[in-house]
Amino acid sequence: MPDTQPPVATLIKQGAEARVYTIPFAGRPAIVKERFRKAYRHPTLDEKLTSRRVVQEARCLHRIRRAGVDTPTVYLVDLKASTIYMEFIDGISVRDHILATSPLNHQHERELATKIAKSLGVMHDMDIVHGDLTTSNMMMRAGDNPSLVLIDFGLSFVSTLVEDKAVDLYVLERALSSTHPDTDSFFQAILNAYAKNSKGGKPVLKKLEDVRRRGRKRTAFG
Ligand SMILES: Nc1ncnc2c1ncn2[C@@H]1O[C@H](COP(=O)(O)OP(=O)(O)O)[C@@H](O)[C@H]1O
Ligand SMILES: [Mg+2]
Repeated sequence: MPDTQPPVATLIKQGAEARVYTIPFAGRPAIVKERFRKAYRHPTLDEKLTSRRVVQEARCLHRIRRAGVDTPTVYLVDLKASTIYMEFIDGISVRDHILATSPLNHQHERELATKIAKSLGVMHDMDIVHGDLTTSNMMMRAGDNPSLVLIDFGLSFVSTLVEDKAVDLYVLERALSSTHPDTDSFFQAILNAYAKNSKGGKPVLKKLEDVRRRGRKRTAFG
């Protein structure tokens, strides 16, 4: 008898902006990311803003993948339902990987840092700013020599400004130091590889110094 049951979706994350499910899609596991409406916004405005965000997320995922950076393949965008269907990445987050293998040995730290920096370099050279760079938003595919996968472009935007790219790196630096202790040398390895591998890297790193100074001032004075 044919299986007429609707596919079962399993909730894997309920965030502030979106729900993420796994679901079988054309016989393969897929991820469904559904951005929810904000009830307090005017419905017409809300629909416009939500659609714009969904389109932006799908477009950035797709553009970066085309440039050779590993991101989940986008299968389908359902604007009416504010939903993106995408490839399910079989692997683990960089966060869980670091927590499970800590302390990283020197060689491994350098390899991982280089993979991250190369992806970020290509992305920034395309004038795409991720907007939420954390180790939870980076995954490693299962298997030997795993490729690094950037996910969660929910806050991404297009910008040519060195400042925006520097803030992107600063967000990562803060996220690293709050989730993983003793990551100074790891972050420094990311910056070194970023400078080497991206076309516009050097001015971004120079700007990062300013961003850090402002960050320290804000921490000192509240
Ligand atoms: N394509 C994917 N493959 C596998 N897991 C994913 C994928 N997309 C998201 N996830 C998992 O779901 C979590 C939440 O998705 P994410 O896009 O980061 O949404 P949020 O904006 O809520 O953080 C991720 O941290 C990751 O664990
Ligand atoms: Mg996320």
